Amino acid sequence: MENEAAIISNKEKLYRRRKQLVPNAVGIFNPSSVVEAHGAIMIDADGNELIDFAGGIGVINAGHCPPPVVAAIQQQAEKLIHSSFNVALYEVYLDLAAEMVKLLPHGKATKVMFLNSGAEAVENAIKIAKQVAKRNAIISYEGAFHGRTMMAMSLTSKVAYKAGCGPFAPEVYRLPYPSYSKHVHDVPEEKFAADEIKRLKQFFKTQVRAEDVAAIIIELVQGEGGFYVASKPYIKALRKLCDEHGTLLIFDEVQSGFGRTGKWAAYEHFDVLPDISTWAKSMGSGMPIAAVMGKANIMDAAAPSTLGGTYAGNPIACAASLATLQYMQEIDINALGERVGRIVYERFQHFQQAYPSLIGEVRGLGAMLAFDVVKNGDWNEPNTAATQQIITACAEKGLVIISAGVHANVIRILSPLVIEETLLHKGLDILEHVIKEIA
Ligand SMILES: Cc1ncc(COP(=O)(O)O)c(C=O)c1O
Repeated sequence: MENEAAIISNKEKLYRRRKQLVPNAVGIFNPSSVVEAHGAIMIDADGNELIDFAGGIGVINAGHCPPPVVAAIQQQAEKLIHSSFNVALYEVYLDLAAEMVKLLPHGKATKVMFLNSGAEAVENAIKIAKQVAKRNAIISYEGAFHGRTMMAMSLTSKVAYKAGCGPFAPEVYRLPYPSYSKHVHDVPEEKFAADEIKRLKQFFKTQVRAEDVAAIIIELVQGEGGFYVASKPYIKALRKLCDEHGTLLIFDEVQSGFGRTGKWAAYEHFDVLPDISTWAKSMGSGMPIAAVMGKANIMDAAAPSTLGGTYAGNPIACAASLATLQYMQEIDINALGERVGRIVYERFQHFQQAYPSLIGEVRGLGAMLAFDVVKNGDWNEPNTAATQQIITACAEKGLVIISAGVHANVIRILSPLVIEETLLHKGLDILEHVIKEIA
């Protein structure tokens, strides 16, 4: 026993305790451990340095433990940890709200409320939309991921995430995700978008009346779905159609926001504004904070006391988020996102050309980039086993990376955007080395 204790790693000891104490259903997306982290480097339980390409699932755009965010957390913790915003209001909530409205205006007047997680933001966005429209139905998309609470799970597409958890919220309808790819569609993008809008109009005849649809919710770049990008002409036409029918358009920016696509919001690439939007992940550098934003008249139409939560927008999370947003402006997070995107896209294209038997389509927007892992060079044959092999082998070589996709065959990059170029290339070299070995 003593010998065994001496040779097993600290990480292995942690995983053994996890197995004993934590339910199996809490997923393991990567077999790593961490004790501390700064910038784009994590130190694991055995003192090894790991390069972080996962960013705690897209949360660490501004890097691990940015000094101004750490200082803001410390200062706030000394003054006020909690009062509940509904009971005794505090200024840092309002300062953060003002900053969000400044960066992400939804037209002339915008309002914002804070929550604790992306799923909670989605729940509240739907509650607001239903009240405003006075309708019950919601449309979401195949491949969508909106969270793990009941409404968010009902909107989520990947059925493996919902196994045995029904019945789900009623009046949720699903359309194919409108991503255009030259490899898949043999028509120009404008024609593709027009056909998809025609499909939606037909849907209003065969599935649900337009007059019954409160909102359409969409990720402009699907996160967990595998980094598919929505077609711009489709989104523009969708905006028009929603306006014609009094249907609210909700953009879920939980994974795509705050520099990840090279802009504060993915919607800035589409020249379209949502009525309501949801935010979380990188806005708090790891503190649990999320937001629902919307046009002021829409946000104000929800009835008093229908929105809230004990911890929603707690002072420390607000202080961390405010410091994160200020720091992101200082370092020009969007330019960093573009830079990471350029480097990764070039390397991914090379991976595809050099290892075509294993690497399929490369896609994404800005630094929100991914590639498919396929069997025998067939882009329609997902290779889930090889994807898992890549993740495990990378972890052994000091690179933390995670998958995505309904077939779990997509390797995605969610590294901190502050990552130094040499470190980014070092991580990509590890990834290429592993791909080469497996291919
Ligand atoms: C687009 C999107 N919406 C909602 C969520 C749910 O966020 P959370 O895990 O904070 O509840 C996620 C999480 O990955 C997401 O990517």
